[in-house]
Amino acid sequence: MYRTHTCGELRIENKGQQVTLAGWVQKARKLGGMTFIDLRDRYGITQLVVEADAPAALVEVATSLGREFVIQAKGEVVERQAKNPKMPTGDIEIKLEAITILNKSVTPPFTIEEESDGGEDLRAKYRYLDLRRGPLQRALALRHRVAHEVRNYLDANGFMEIETPYLIKSTPEGARDFVVPSRMNPGQFYALPQSPQTFKQLLMVAGYDRYFQIVRCFRDEDLRADRQPEFTQIDCEMSFVEQEDVLNMFEGMMRTIFKNVLGVDIPNPMPRMSWYDAMDNYGSDKPDVRFGMTIHELTEAAKGKGFSVLDDAAYIGAICVPGAAEYTRKQLDELTEWVKRPQVGAKGLIYIKVNADGSFKSSIDKFYSADDLAKLAAKAEAKPGDLMLVMSGANKRKVQTMLGVLRLEMGGRLGLRNPKEFAPLWIVDFPLLEWDDETQRFYAMHHPFTAPKPEHEAWFYSDKKEDLERVCANAYDFVLNGNELGGGSIRIHNADMQKRMFEVLGIGPEEAEYKFGFIINAFKFGAPPHGGLAFGFDRVCALMGGQDTIRDYIAFPKNNQGRDVMIDSPSEIDQAQLDELQIDLRRKTQTPEQ
Ligand code: AMO
Repeated sequence: MYRTHTCGELRIENKGQQVTLAGWVQKARKLGGMTFIDLRDRYGITQLVVEADAPAALVEVATSLGREFVIQAKGEVVERQAKNPKMPTGDIEIKLEAITILNKSVTPPFTIEEESDGGEDLRAKYRYLDLRRGPLQRALALRHRVAHEVRNYLDANGFMEIETPYLIKSTPEGARDFVVPSRMNPGQFYALPQSPQTFKQLLMVAGYDRYFQIVRCFRDEDLRADRQPEFTQIDCEMSFVEQEDVLNMFEGMMRTIFKNVLGVDIPNPMPRMSWYDAMDNYGSDKPDVRFGMTIHELTEAAKGKGFSVLDDAAYIGAICVPGAAEYTRKQLDELTEWVKRPQVGAKGLIYIKVNADGSFKSSIDKFYSADDLAKLAAKAEAKPGDLMLVMSGANKRKVQTMLGVLRLEMGGRLGLRNPKEFAPLWIVDFPLLEWDDETQRFYAMHHPFTAPKPEHEAWFYSDKKEDLERVCANAYDFVLNGNELGGGSIRIHNADMQKRMFEVLGIGPEEAEYKFGFIINAFKFGAPPHGGLAFGFDRVCALMGGQDTIRDYIAFPKNNQGRDVMIDSPSEIDQAQLDELQIDLRRKTQTPEQ
């Protein structure tokens, strides 16, 4: 037997016991003839001690240990003289009688402790070493717990976990597909699923009325902190349900996970907000409602004073930043530069200081009298001490979005975005379609299988752009602390309506048949009314762990260039493989270096 206990297990109650531990040497240090060793495994760290008067052979082995050596250590549990209340095992240590070196290690390229001295790239290259560190161990343990709770909850509610294929045909979820060439079908490609959307709908047609799957999805899109090219969804679908049934089932699931994993109660029932209110008040379809600072429209109130920037704007809005009226000129200049960054994209920023003594100071004093400013402040519900930040432009949603980004930034600067506070909500009543000026066509806001609200069906069949623009979908997103954790919809289950959807999206009958013939056809064979949703599993875990980057909640993630630097992938394949696939590479000609 390699070990009797793990390195996280022993307590003062075990005093006097003979034990054997096995693990990695985190640190070994000599102190006045004694050798102290921190032994680590995924359960914790236990201190081992070799006394000064121990047999010479033992002292010799103990002093030869390097970082990350794998050892087996035998000895007696004794009470520590200098206890460490920060460590669960901090009351005891093991007085060693024997050490066996099970394997040596070369010196690791960075320290494997709570805080590492290794940079991100280095740690990514040696991910298996980084995974030995406490923060990553805890992240993966949390992920495991969440998956377990999800399965328990869904199983208890009659859901069946069913796997769907990875080698499929493109499913449109708005990103590019990763494709896989087929050797047996030269010139043809599989697509890796962006989600199991069409398959889960086919499972509904097949009668598996409560399906779920914790499933890998693949999307070739630009990467960010909360996006990986392969990520995991908790994908669910139900038959014979309306929106209300789906929302109830899955807010129940989220409540259960938060309670059982974190001991946190999240609201019951979960708040709901329409997409229109979210955009108007928060400038985001995934509002962070942990703090207020909502957007106030000033379009009418601010016009007519001869200031063309505002007079010519189609929309004017403001947020009021509490306590920021004291901002200095320098701070205001910095903020103006901040909103001009491409990530925000504003042309400028107007400020109105609502001073504690009731006076005003603004960047538009030339055009607006104190009375005018007082009216704007009243309209924006500004309080003494507030700094009003005003933005304007030709496109209402764009201005609101910029104000939304600024709002999040100011919330962050004021420390209002506490990662330990959880403020979930449903966003409902999304527009079904989104018009794109550039391509002059509609896109599905969610995906092309989402049904219009029954009361908006007449508009859905109308030829007028204005009618189509106001059709709302039976779609919903689960939002937490400014992050979209999940989304779904009630689906179209009627072949004619699905055809109409493709028509609205400018997908001709032939293209629809080629890409989606299988699902249109399936709908002819008694498709039940159905709907569902998918949660981003990595995002759920990261937020529960108090982080907004998902990378540490995935054992082997990719970097921002979509590369796995540990295995060095993607990589070229050899000519024989290409030949077998009948693929000729057409490389971009390189300009010779000057
Ligand atoms: P959607 O595209 O909204 O819906 O995806 C569902 C959830 O998956 C997460 N997510 C991601 N997480 C990490 N990296 C990514 N690149 C990434 N992309 C998406 C998000 C998102 O809310 N088939 C539909 C669901 C349905 O209608 O049932 C779908 O995939 O948290």
